[in-house]
Amino acid sequence: MTRQLLEKRERLIPRGVYNTNPVFVEKAEGAIIWGKDGRRYIDFAGAIGSLNVGHSNPKVVDAIKKQADKFVGSCFHTSMHEPYLEVVERLLSLYPGSFPKKGFLVNSGAEAVENAVKIARHYTGRGAIVVFEHAFHGRTLLTLAMTSKVVPYKAGFGPFPPEIYRLPYPYCYRCPFSLSYPECGLRCASYIEEFFITHVRPQEVAAVVIEPVIGEGGFIIPPREYMIKLREITEKYGILLVADEVQAGFCRTGKFFAVENFGVVPDIITIAKSIAGGLPLAAVLGRAEVMDHPQVGGLGGTFGGNPVSCAAAVAAIDFALEENLCGKALGIGEKVKARFLKWKEKFSFVGDVRALGAMAAFEVVKPASKEPDKETTSRIVQLAYERGLLLISAGVYSNVIRVLMPLVIGDEELEEGLAILEDVMEEI
Ligand SMILES: Cc1ncc(COP(=O)(O)O)c(C=O)c1O
Repeated sequence: MTRQLLEKRERLIPRGVYNTNPVFVEKAEGAIIWGKDGRRYIDFAGAIGSLNVGHSNPKVVDAIKKQADKFVGSCFHTSMHEPYLEVVERLLSLYPGSFPKKGFLVNSGAEAVENAVKIARHYTGRGAIVVFEHAFHGRTLLTLAMTSKVVPYKAGFGPFPPEIYRLPYPYCYRCPFSLSYPECGLRCASYIEEFFITHVRPQEVAAVVIEPVIGEGGFIIPPREYMIKLREITEKYGILLVADEVQAGFCRTGKFFAVENFGVVPDIITIAKSIAGGLPLAAVLGRAEVMDHPQVGGLGGTFGGNPVSCAAAVAAIDFALEENLCGKALGIGEKVKARFLKWKEKFSFVGDVRALGAMAAFEVVKPASKEPDKETTSRIVQLAYERGLLLISAGVYSNVIRVLMPLVIGDEELEEGLAILEDVMEEI
């Protein structure tokens, strides 16, 4: 059965549309996937972080069915619907800072980031956008320009849109200034003023777009003071701070929005992935005066905020709040981090261990040199799959094992998944 499906996939789907494993899903619930191959898998990949409320969350499924019974397709621009408002109202109520806020809905993370850039440019009347090394913001041409990994994302797809400038990310394990935190005195933060001399005038910068915790780039967590300093600098020059929370948001880090961990309030937040419990939906949220700046008709799209995704999102957000998903993320994170730290002691190829809530990862390195070890990382992912654990790697050097399990995972399932991974590590 699976072989036939794989053959069909080869025949019909271009190879560029990648797969991290050969599993076809028959059924999925919570943190478990049953494959067409008859096997059961523990899902530590969580559809790249878009299933924080779990596969087929019953409340989400119920909301989808109820909405589908009423109406399915309604473009918000031509016939408005209440679920759209319900989603935005909930998300804005969770946005930090006490000032008027507005938001709207689109279909994907990349589309949300593109819209954040449009709005920032419109509001400031400036063209330049500052992004970071190791960033991932999506696969459309503008968001690819903002993304920092060349192969496989960017190679051959240029030319890219101009006016994108790149700062080093505060990546302490591989410090871009070869210094050590905290003795470095946050050299990466003081460098920003130099960057404004050597790369782009701050008066030309519309926005700094940052992932509060880097996702695809390898779960890199900046020092809190860096984020605070960045907020100060952006304020000083009238530059908007955009937090791309597409991967780090929705309780993953133990807070609904990852920026809350740093006590920083951005001007715009983009969020997607888990907000609709597995259906496509993304939001651009921000200060009302910024969000209201573009002219009527300047923002939107046919499917953005379709009613079924919105109904799913209302259920997913309510579930997250009622079930204290942020607290669950902290509990999962503690267990996973403790285990990873144990492995760091035990296995010489485990480098840095990082975790903010359940956004947890470790680097796989060549023991003597700390050099990234992509081959061993791929072997870990492959062996884990063979034993029934779905994993995905990350990092510009493809040497980070990250976990994005649904936050509803049971203790036993979590332990089972970690035990499989530990066995794999032993074998390696
Ligand atoms: C931080 C971040 N921004 C944007 C995106 C793009 O989101 P999408 O794949 O929904 O377009 C991603 C996807 O992984 C992401 O992690």
